[in-house]
Amino acid sequence: MTMVRLEKVNKSYGNVVALHQVDLSVEEGEFVTLLGPSGCGKTTMLNLIAGMIAPSSGRIHIAGKDATDIPANKRGLGMVFQNYALMPHMTIFENIAFPLRVRRMRSAEIKKKVSEVLDLVKLPHIANRKPQELSGGQQQRVSIARCIVYNPSIILMDEPMGALDKKLREQMQLELKRIHTELKITMLYVTHDQEEALTMSDRIILLNDGEVEQMGSPEELYFQPCSSFAANFLGDSNLMEATVKEMGKTLKVALCSGDEIWTRPAAFAAPGQKVKAMVRPENVNILRPEQQANGFDNRIKGTAIDSIILGGVIKHYVRLEGNATVVAQELTRTGRRALTPGEPVELAWRQDDTLVLPLVGKVVA
Ligand SMILES: Nc1ncnc2c1ncn2[C@@H]1O[C@H](COP(=O)(O)OP(=O)(O)O)[C@@H](O)[C@H]1O
Ligand SMILES: [Mg+2]
Repeated sequence: MTMVRLEKVNKSYGNVVALHQVDLSVEEGEFVTLLGPSGCGKTTMLNLIAGMIAPSSGRIHIAGKDATDIPANKRGLGMVFQNYALMPHMTIFENIAFPLRVRRMRSAEIKKKVSEVLDLVKLPHIANRKPQELSGGQQQRVSIARCIVYNPSIILMDEPMGALDKKLREQMQLELKRIHTELKITMLYVTHDQEEALTMSDRIILLNDGEVEQMGSPEELYFQPCSSFAANFLGDSNLMEATVKEMGKTLKVALCSGDEIWTRPAAFAAPGQKVKAMVRPENVNILRPEQQANGFDNRIKGTAIDSIILGGVIKHYVRLEGNATVVAQELTRTGRRALTPGEPVELAWRQDDTLVLPLVGKVVA
């Protein structure tokens, strides 16, 4: 069953267009992430689905029914916020029991339910504490417990890990994945953090300035971005201006440096057209004298600008003729040295790892 479906949804605040002609759907049991930079309309989208605000036009369907005019508290949704929103004077037990008391559940059943969800979020011993006696991570678990305790059909989360430090955030991401797998509940999760989206999602909906840029599995978005925006937002990429030379089973393009490289075929491209050629830094190799160049379709010469060691990976910045910069990324290994600025370098990568994208806008599927 389709749990959420937006049909040509528009939302403006005065002159500000927050969402434009949004069509999307979330299937039952899916973990879907709304991803995009700050201000692109993620919170607006979640609030529209939750029923906190109304669309300027378009329809919102929830669990097969048109819910556009149904008030928030009748939509059967759960919401988890970034600031936890726990009630400070109540114990954890009472915080979690609250939505059940509102629903007039019997007290023996409430006790059982609360203890079940506290087990699920791995906090069985804290029922009698107050929120301020818990760490940020524990409070976030409690707010998740309070949301799942009344079995909402969909859980909406707006940047719920925003206030946690990196280590804790990674731990909570895995926890949330586990809870999703155990309960098979539909989750719609908002984040501006690409790693978080890649870690948790069955599907990612990438938003750009109020419009859906691309939707698909993490793999699809990573390996087949539809635009420069998508290529840049998920992972790092080298985007080089180029002109289409030859078409066929593969494509040949000329870079501004004059070098010609082979790319994957692209239906939209025509000879003479200006495009962007894209290759991920991790696919670009620095050819060393001892290394065989076999298997690399593209080889170009450049000059080292600098190298930066970022722990597990090392990034090499190389300037091409005509001033474009290409980044090559390698795993840091003992003996692998940084490049000396000014040193001549040969870069090599595979045609299969090279895409062409439109200069502006996106590839329409
Ligand atoms: N209540 C509001 N009044 C006016 N403009 C708003 C309001 N809420 C959001 N906006 C604007 O709508 C756009 C989308 O905002 P928002 O949905 O909060 O983005 P995100 O959650 O992706 O950061 C932004 O330009 C923001 O300034
Ligand atoms: Mg927001």
